[in-house]
Amino acid sequence: MLKRRLAESLEVSALGLGCMGMSEFYGSRDDAESMRVLHRAVDLGIDFFDTADMYGPLHNEELLGRFLRERRPEAVIATKFGIVRKPGAYARNIDNSPDYARRCCEASLRRLGVERIDLFYVHRVDRSRPIEEVMAVLGDLVREGKIGHVGLCEVSAATLRRACAVHPVAALQTEYSLWAREVETEILPACRELGVGFVAYSPLGRGFLTGTIDSRAAFADGDFRAHLPRFTDDSMAVNRSIVVAVKAVARRMNRTPAQTALAWLLAKGHDIVPIPGTKRVRYLEENAAAASTPLPAEELEALDEAVRGLAVAGARYTDEGMKGVNA
Ligand SMILES: NC(=O)c1ccc[n+]([C@@H]2O[C@H](COP(=O)([O-])OP(=O)(O)OC[C@H]3O[C@@H](n4cnc5c(N)ncnc54)[C@H](OP(=O)(O)O)[C@@H]3O)[C@@H](O)[C@H]2O)c1
Repeated sequence: MLKRRLAESLEVSALGLGCMGMSEFYGSRDDAESMRVLHRAVDLGIDFFDTADMYGPLHNEELLGRFLRERRPEAVIATKFGIVRKPGAYARNIDNSPDYARRCCEASLRRLGVERIDLFYVHRVDRSRPIEEVMAVLGDLVREGKIGHVGLCEVSAATLRRACAVHPVAALQTEYSLWAREVETEILPACRELGVGFVAYSPLGRGFLTGTIDSRAAFADGDFRAHLPRFTDDSMAVNRSIVVAVKAVARRMNRTPAQTALAWLLAKGHDIVPIPGTKRVRYLEENAAAASTPLPAEELEALDEAVRGLAVAGARYTDEGMKGVNA
């Protein structure tokens, strides 16, 4: 698989692998199949693995730890801290205090079984603290060799600028896909100006853009999407027109909708690394193929044209969750 450069010293496969769903959020888990997905990803040339302490919580890093025992040299590992969850609930607090950042780093190192975390993100910024404070401690962790690079999730362009003044930020991770394009206005241009790579999470619209989700009835008990305004039946009825546009291009180009959505995103810039998530080998193989089959310019334009002006119904998160974005 082709590589992309997030920062001068951070080169990763053009597509990463989102590991969150292997633990929770999108239905049941199957560790044995997840392990097959992780190994197959490496075999397909994917080396960029995305996890967080709060996925599970803790289960996802522990799963990755078992995988890394065998494949550490072939993997670039990204994890996150800063969201404190109660087990069994999606309710959370944000903690960016220097002491908590350091303790989380040590705990993630232990769970992952590595000597250094390649990319350590602040999962959500605590608006009550200056970003400079957490960047200072992350800079110390880099100098101590415990983390390779610093990343931030869901921050505003202004926060990114202030953060970069303290310590280089290798990557900003935020949702970006055909139905989540807010980053195009200010955040992507700021990343480009500051030399910060962009990691696109939920590039398949949490599965919606693949055309496989017709109604909330498809969600198992506890599925996170059932809480999201964008996934009410009314919202999905509006948002389906985007899937229709994706499917039209997919059909013409003999691709699947997932491959079409990923190819569209990959074409938005060489500084963008989408991290589609799956816990199934079948989906992984399908998604990985998108990296080697770019869409022709006229099809990209047709897709942009088809979705331009289409309404997206429902916010990305609940009101509470939206407090954590563009922070
Ligand atoms: N920084 C943050 O705040 C944040 C937030 C959300 C996510 N993330 C990261 O981003 C990663 C990716 O985002 P995501 O998992 O939320 O959303 P996504 O990648 O947009 O979509 C994942 C969903 O799509 C399904 N899927 C994947 N490939 C498919 C295919 N080819 N055909 C049909 N369905 C397919 C998956 O099904 P299965 O589950 O059945 O495989 C899963 O339900 C996460 O794993 C996580 O690491 C970060």
